[in-house]
Amino acid sequence: MRIAPVLLAGVLTLAGCGKSEPPAEAPTTGEPTAEAPAVAPTAAMGEQVFRRCVACHTVDKGGANGIGPNLHGVVGAAVASKPDFSYSGAMKAKGGIWDEAALDAYLKAPMKAVPGTRMAFAGVIDAADRKALILYLEAQSK
Ligand code: HEC
Repeated sequence: MRIAPVLLAGVLTLAGCGKSEPPAEAPTTGEPTAEAPAVAPTAAMGEQVFRRCVACHTVDKGGANGIGPNLHGVVGAAVASKPDFSYSGAMKAKGGIWDEAALDAYLKAPMKAVPGTRMAFAGVIDAADRKALILYLEAQSK
């Protein structure tokens, strides 16, 4: 029985050594291990996208027209409805209301959706960005 304390000491020593070693980690590749879940667009995301518009547009209630008209309440409003903004003939002739589908088409490709529009803007390519933007514009209308 003289050997037992030696073995025990050995086990404790090994355990102690084990503790001082860095914890085993899964090898990291720098890549996410799983696909990031698709994030549903929100008005908050749209606020970021709207930064592409602020050079020409305000969205606050009673905000000034800039190069483009103030966009307060634009979702659901008649096209070219701001009485104090000088729209292009193309925009005045478009008619209809800015529902989600009309806005989506216009923001995707302004010159294609309203040929002759004076809005010198290439468009928002990403569909989720456009969705977020429209949610933001809608939230600003309240
Ligand atoms: C370079 C300036 C410019 C930028 C950038 C711009 N716009 Fe415009 N926008 C205009 C002008 C000018 C008009 C009026 C177009 C016309 O009369 O043909 C307009 C018109 C609009 C209209 C129609 C408004 C109405 O009263 O019928 C909407 C909606 C709109 N813009 C949204 C946006 C959004 C959203 C963005 C950002 C993604 C954006 N615009 C970026 C200049 C701009």
